[in-house]
Amino acid sequence: MSILVTGGAGYIGSHTLVSLLEKGEDVTVIDNFDNSSPVALERVRQITGRSFKTYTGDCCDEALLTQIMNENDIEAVIHFAGHKAVGESVEKPLKYYENNLESTISLLNAMLKCGVKKLIFSSSATVYSGENTVPFTESGRLGCINPYGWTKFMNEQIIRDTAYANKELCCVLLRYFNPVGAHESGLIGEDPNGIPNNLMPYICQTAVGRREHLTVFGDDYPTPDGTGVRDYLHVVDLAEGHVCALAYARTHDGCEAINLGTGTGYSVLDMVKAFEKANGVKVPYVIGPRRSGDLAICYSDPTKAHRLLNWKAERTLEDMCRDGWRWQSRNPQGYGTQA
Ligand code: NAD
Ligand code: UFG
Repeated sequence: MSILVTGGAGYIGSHTLVSLLEKGEDVTVIDNFDNSSPVALERVRQITGRSFKTYTGDCCDEALLTQIMNENDIEAVIHFAGHKAVGESVEKPLKYYENNLESTISLLNAMLKCGVKKLIFSSSATVYSGENTVPFTESGRLGCINPYGWTKFMNEQIIRDTAYANKELCCVLLRYFNPVGAHESGLIGEDPNGIPNNLMPYICQTAVGRREHLTVFGDDYPTPDGTGVRDYLHVVDLAEGHVCALAYARTHDGCEAINLGTGTGYSVLDMVKAFEKANGVKVPYVIGPRRSGDLAICYSDPTKAHRLLNWKAERTLEDMCRDGWRWQSRNPQGYGTQA
């Protein structure tokens, strides 16, 4: 039997493939390479010494998904495929609603048709309303402020309703906090298109000389140093969370939302200092205005993940900074060219 990984060539998908293959799982990948490179999959093969089948195609194509499930004896699906750029989702909301919702509906239809009963879905801390107090627990109030966030919120509801109507299903909605870093081999990592929106890739590209300086979005928040606080977690810990979620899904039914985070918050300036210290490089920065829509503080209560999945983030902030830099410095242009 095989695990179908949608969006497997992406940042989190490629790291999860490594964790699954290293556990001896058989995997099948579908990706349309809209935001990724086939080179990532070659690197996964290089790291693990394992081969797997890849389909280049769109997850909105229900007939293709049905064919893949039938051809590969699919037992469970890990669904990463989706667009994820918050700013773009505000400018092109229909692109986000169409891709992110249609792909999930096609997938659920194909699963029901083919008797596939386990689904792990990539949700996000972005589904929590900013009115909650930290740490965010799974029972917190939900509410979003951009179309990308709403697609996660709506996908959660679609999956919850489908699991309610089909009692044989087990669906796990993993709400990621802020994944950063890279596999310790330096062979796979985050490779954003264009100018990065997120902090860690921006820090890495500044350190490697692709950007002149980092702009810190606001230093007047009610936080210890005035800059925004987030729950950064190592992408390999996050990948291992999916292996634990798969084990849970194999022995349960129903639908559960589960936070994946460390439970600790670090500020933007904490991240800059930790990166400089771990890697002995400078990250020039300037203070700029706040970015609209940003919360002052966001970090998880990860106790449910420990209780249900027996998962805890183990890697330190130093590991995140060191591994992120190893990837960036060895692949200054991402998958485009090798150093
Ligand atoms: P990513 O863009 O690197 O990976 C997504 C992959 O899905 C890409 O390889 C892309 O080509 C593919 N894809 C997109 N639409 C597709 C479609 N219709 N058919 C086939 N393939 C398609 O993103 P990531 O950072 O690896 O994120 C994975 C998932 O986790 C996404 O759903 C994202 O919204 C979610 N998430 C990410 C973060 C984060 O900070 N990275 C945080 C919370 C949630
Ligand atoms: N920041 C800067 N300068 C930058 C980029 C970010 O100061 O150039 C600051 C932000 O203001 C924020 C912190 O760094 O305080 C983290 O910002 P990111 O953009 O890296 O992460 P966010 O928490 O804003 O959002 C990310 C993803 C969302 C996801 C959310 C929760 O982009 O899609 O984490 O998982 F929903």
